[in-house]
Amino acid sequence: MQFYIMTLFPEMVMNGLNTSITGRAIQKGLLSVEAVNIRDYAFNKHNSVDDYPYGGGAGMLMQAEPVYQCYHALEERIGKRPRVVYLSPQGETFHQKMAEELAEEEELVFLCGHYEGIDERVLEEIVTDYVSIGDYVLTGGELPAMIMVDAISRLVPGVLHNDVSAEFESFQDNLLEYPQYSRPEVWHGKQVPEVLLSGHHANIEKWRRRESVIRTAKNRPDLLVRAELTEEEKTLARKILEETGKA
Ligand code: ADE
Repeated sequence: MQFYIMTLFPEMVMNGLNTSITGRAIQKGLLSVEAVNIRDYAFNKHNSVDDYPYGGGAGMLMQAEPVYQCYHALEERIGKRPRVVYLSPQGETFHQKMAEELAEEEELVFLCGHYEGIDERVLEEIVTDYVSIGDYVLTGGELPAMIMVDAISRLVPGVLHNDVSAEFESFQDNLLEYPQYSRPEVWHGKQVPEVLLSGHHANIEKWRRRESVIRTAKNRPDLLVRAELTEEEKTLARKILEETGKA
């Protein structure tokens, strides 16, 4: 999987993604991440890439031409028209299914805006997907791009040590993950649930599934409509919703 990130702050992106699990996957050659500096495509002697918006208004806009030239150089190197994700609060909100779908691509290009955004005309020409990471406004698209690269990378085979953890995870089934415990058996007077010490795998699975349903009903009842529940689980979820006043 090859990620290209068009940005004015390449070190920010590379420092973050060269760390921890994504960093190890890059070292192992499972991923490649390249931050491309849009400023390298500035076309004036001041190396500036921004200008005032026509019609007035606060702040500066990134100009179309440097972004276009940066994209064009990438397209030539990749050898085809890649998928280009523009990070913007105006895009579709990022979710796990989108990460799964994007993980199927061989190359992905992310375009990070700064200042008040980017000249609309170049967006119309190069962007294939507009994505937001949530209903809040950040100073630039770098953190959202890093979040998306992280979420997509962990779905690439071999990136996680243990493929089971990519399989069963929060949201996979539209249920949140069950609570987990490690040693010691008692911590701050709190005992690990007995069933987890029993070695009885079927009972452990049953307990975990039940805890997932309870957690989802308590914390994210909106997910329940898309979860596939047995009749018994539906009754349990309804009981939790009633108890928590969310029914
Ligand atoms: N750029 C600024 N805010 C953003 C957000 N919430 N999501 C994606 N890109 C952004």
